[in-house]
Amino acid sequence: MTTPPEVALAQTSLLRAMAAIAPGSVRIGCRVIRDADETHLLPEEARSLPARQPAMRCASGAARWIAHGLLAEFCVNDTAVLRAPSGAPVWPEGITGSLAHDNEMAVAAIAPVGRIASLGIDVEPALALPDDILALVATRADRTDAADRHLAGRILFSAKEAVYKAVYPLDREILGYEDIAVDLDAGHATTKTGRRVSLAYCVAPRVVVLAFVEQGAG
Ligand SMILES: CC(C)(COP(=O)(O)OP(=O)(O)OC[C@H]1O[C@@H](n2cnc3c(N)ncnc32)[C@H](O)[C@@H]1OP(=O)(O)O)[C@@H](O)C(=O)NCCC(=O)NCCS
Repeated sequence: MTTPPEVALAQTSLLRAMAAIAPGSVRIGCRVIRDADETHLLPEEARSLPARQPAMRCASGAARWIAHGLLAEFCVNDTAVLRAPSGAPVWPEGITGSLAHDNEMAVAAIAPVGRIASLGIDVEPALALPDDILALVATRADRTDAADRHLAGRILFSAKEAVYKAVYPLDREILGYEDIAVDLDAGHATTKTGRRVSLAYCVAPRVVVLAFVEQGAG
């Protein structure tokens, strides 16, 4: 089946924006979620996902389709990216990475463990965050002055989710929004577990935040 031009354009534009923010050792990818993307799940991956709505399995399939392609760039082929009981993806030895999906787009990022000890990624539609959610997410410690005012709340939300995904595999601690202080202006965050996490984000055509813990940081 051929890909409609608007779908191809959405993917290409996001991939370009993500490539511009990713550190050198990080491989990233995105995919507009299509019907039947759950067929890209390897049998072990499908078994590792909890019973959930078909749309969620489709999104998880799209994210793993990207991950399989990125792993192949490291000559790691036919390797399942299982979902651990915690929800965290399980990567092959020596690789760290992260997956995310919103209603339309799936994204993934991986890197060899080295300068980067752990990665997190999040994707969100480029829409203002509703005020009631912002009230749950933002604290007085957060700094977002440099971000687009309309999207600052959404970027902050996405940054906290990406930070959580980056630090969970290291600390195994469930964090709330209040446990993560984000300084978008300086490009980093700190967690109540003492982690210092670097941040990079793009906003066009979707909000994508990459969070990475560097070796020896925190
Ligand atoms: C991790 C979490 C934030 C993901 O958010 P989400 O909006 O449900 O989903 P996203 O599309 O952004 O990300 C989904 C991916 O996150 C990854 N993920 C889930 N739990 C994870 C964890 N503990 N650590 C790292 N990555 C995790 C998985 O790869 C998942 O993909 P899959 O479902 O295809 O396997 C959420 O599931 C969670 O565990 N929340 C509890 C803690 C919390 O919400 N704290 C406040 C935010 S700081």
